[in-house]
Amino acid sequence: MTKVWRVDPKHPDPCVIAEAAKIIGSGGLVAFPTETVYGLGANALDEMAVQKIFSAKERPAWDPLIVHISRPEMVLQLVADVPERFWQLAERFMPGPLTVVLPKKPIVPEIVTAGLPTVAIRMPKHQVALALIEAAGVPIVAPSANRFGRPSPTTAEHVLADLQGRIDGVLDAGPTQVGVESTVLDLTKEPPVILRPGGVPKEALEEVLSVVSVRTVVTEEEVGKGLPSPGMTKRHYAPSVPVVLADGNPQALFATIDRLLSKGQEPHRIGVLLPFDWSLPNLPLVIFRWGSWGDWNGLAQRLFEGLRWLEGQGVSVIVAPVPPSVGLGLAVRDRLLKAASDRCP
Ligand code: TXA
Ligand code: MG
Repeated sequence: MTKVWRVDPKHPDPCVIAEAAKIIGSGGLVAFPTETVYGLGANALDEMAVQKIFSAKERPAWDPLIVHISRPEMVLQLVADVPERFWQLAERFMPGPLTVVLPKKPIVPEIVTAGLPTVAIRMPKHQVALALIEAAGVPIVAPSANRFGRPSPTTAEHVLADLQGRIDGVLDAGPTQVGVESTVLDLTKEPPVILRPGGVPKEALEEVLSVVSVRTVVTEEEVGKGLPSPGMTKRHYAPSVPVVLADGNPQALFATIDRLLSKGQEPHRIGVLLPFDWSLPNLPLVIFRWGSWGDWNGLAQRLFEGLRWLEGQGVSVIVAPVPPSVGLGLAVRDRLLKAASDRCP
């Protein structure tokens, strides 16, 4: 049985947090909200508990986990050599949707890092997450609380849809704010490399570190050669129906829908992530009103919700316009490209 605790996102009940922390302490799994998406938490220093995460999510053992901390100084317990750049980033982005990759200390179990010599660290900006880590008294590993390859959960309902019965509990504090996962930044490289665009835009990182490069979507051949970030496989974040992408304007979106219709797709089986201010010809399409085009933060917040909602309406294809690589547009673009890989409608 999976227990559901409703908590206030700003002032969670300490007794509820203590109960959830006790489960973490005894090797259990508790899903909790962060500012990005819901995470599935376990004691990062307990190998057996971490193993349960891989089983519950059906996650392959080659994909390493992020270790969540509640104070920047906790990095000293986990990382062998903390560079000055870490503290500069911490001052600006911790707590916040930034994950940094640094050389690990032996205390971090191999299973957490999938055998890599590095560990990914993040301090989430969410009172429930921070209170849980503090009460547990240990760093907490937390991958997104979805089954492997599925869109990340932005509500407790999404978590339950994927993991009900497989985990001990979920702290439900309502929908998450950012909606896409943290930016993963490899600080062992010079210049640092963004392995996954996310909640902290590249432009903001560049205000602290002058040069940052981006390396994300990966080809099949590269998968075979060993990935810089194992979570970079091409197909990821995907709903159970094919996703078809269109250029970011209403004409291109309609042309894409028109192409599907001319191939015999029925309009009521076509789902569309449609920006607020765009209109489409009068057809019985299944529409998710996504957000204002240009408000990349708003679109990021509702992206996974939209994919899951459309899937739930029983559509057989989802069409989405792709944002430009600006601000959180880069992260939305990355998730859509990965959701769309390798399948034809
Ligand atoms: O926003 C987030 O980051 C969420 C919330 C729950 O904190 N967590 C999350 O975790 O997205 P997960 O496991 O779904 O994604 C972790 C990503 C994967 O792409 C993984 O490959 C990468 O981080 N990663 C973890 N450790 C790494 C390492 N040592 N080197 C390179 N990449 C690493
Ligand atoms: Mg994930």
